[in-house]
This record gives sequence, C-alpha cells and structure tokens, in this order.
Amino acid sequence: MARDVIIALDFSGREQVMEFLDKFTERKPYVKVGMELFYAEGAQIIRDIKARGHKVFLDLKLHDIPNTVKKAMSVLSSLDVDMCNVHAGGTAAMMSAALEGLTRADGTRALLIAVTQLTSTGEKQMQDELLIKESLEETVLHYAENSKNAGLDGVVCSPLEAAGVKARCGADFLTITPGVRFADSKTDDQVRITTPARARELGSDYIVVGRPITQAADPVAAYMRCVKEFLG
Ligand code: C5P
Repeated sequence: MARDVIIALDFSGREQVMEFLDKFTERKPYVKVGMELFYAEGAQIIRDIKARGHKVFLDLKLHDIPNTVKKAMSVLSSLDVDMCNVHAGGTAAMMSAALEGLTRADGTRALLIAVTQLTSTGEKQMQDELLIKESLEETVLHYAENSKNAGLDGVVCSPLEAAGVKARCGADFLTITPGVRFADSKTDDQVRITTPARARELGSDYIVVGRPITQAADPVAAYMRCVKEFLG
C-alpha cells in the first residue's frame, strides 16, 4: 500500500508556490492544494504543479447535493489530481455520486477521501449546534464507516484516531493525517500532534505536513527528514 508525506502548499499565490517547488530538484514531493490557492489561481495551478511531476491532493472538501458534487468531481477528474475529498456529512448518497463523477478517460480515478468532523468542531458544538447527540469519537468513526460503505478510500483524521478508524473500517481503509510535528519543532496552532515516526507506528498512510516544512530554513532537508522518519 502506498504511504507518503504530503506537503500542504499553504501559500497564497503562484509565485510563492513555484519558488518553493523549485527547491526540490531530486525527489518531487506529493503536495496538497487547498481552497485558498485554488480559488486564487484557478485550475491552471494544478496543471502546472502536475506538469512539474508532483502528485496532487486537491483539498476542496466538497459538500452539496449529490448531482452537483458528481458533476464537480467529473471536472476535477479532468485535472488529473491524485486525491480529492468531500465532507462525509453530505451523506452516503452524496459520496457515491462523487465517486461516480470521479473517472478519468482511461477508467482509473483519483483516491477519494472523506472529512468526518472538522477538528475545529468541538464535541459540545457538535452536540449543541448540529444536534448530534453521540460522542465526537463515535461520530467520527461512524462517518468513516459510512464513507467506507459508500466506496471511498479513506478519511482525514488525527494520527491518534488512525488505529480506531482502521479497527472499524479495515486495515486497507486509508488514513490521511495532519497534525504532525518534529519532536524538536514548535507546535503552531496544532493541538493533538505526533511526530512522523509516531504517525507511522499509529498506522497513518499519508501524513500532511505544512509549516514544519514550508517555514523551515531548509525546506528540502525538513522534507527529507520527514520522509526518513515516516517511511523508515
Ligand atoms: O502547517 P500544518 O502542518 O499545521 O498544516 C497542516 C495542513 O493540514 C493545513 O493545510 C491544514 O489546513 C490541514 N488540516 C489540518 N487539520 C485537519 C485537516 C486539515 O491541519 N483536521
């Protein structure tokens, strides 16, 4: 099974992105493009990053009626991204529709991952505002199970939740985990964090790492350190 380090390209514009990617002359990292960069630069930024030989996780977290998500996924497929995502809260019907839309001309498709509950949502908020009465943990696991049943490939979760997701959904169900920090680096605004080595032990398939690499004095060295710790 593929496992890898994904760098979160949390930059606001093309110039910064290209300047950053120019540093990687040997190994071309798997990268994540989120809403800020995609909305600022449009689809061409994805084509340009792909043309440089990077795999792309397009993190747009789609959540709409099934037909709209299906059509949007079909457009994203034409960009040849390697991974994309939806909110599991859109229901199994929406996730199945997303999968139907996600096909390339050669019959292959990008990996499709679900966001369960955003980590910015606390248990009390979820219960009081969204009227979900179960615990946050059970809700995350149940949404992961819905995603698996809808045919998705995995979920975004904390490395600390990876084992629980695997226990509920099977070892092959992918866990994509942000919240990774080196043992000796600052935590920024992340709260529940683990090191790359610990994420590997906990069963993460892909770790998403932003600032520890993008803000490092030597981003390539920080990336290689991450790869070494995570992939062994
Ligand atoms: O800089 P840092 O390593 O914290 O970046 C982590 C990346 O993962 C960011 O793009 C952030 O938006 C994303 N993310 C996260 N926590 C989640 C989901 C996504 O940190 N639960």
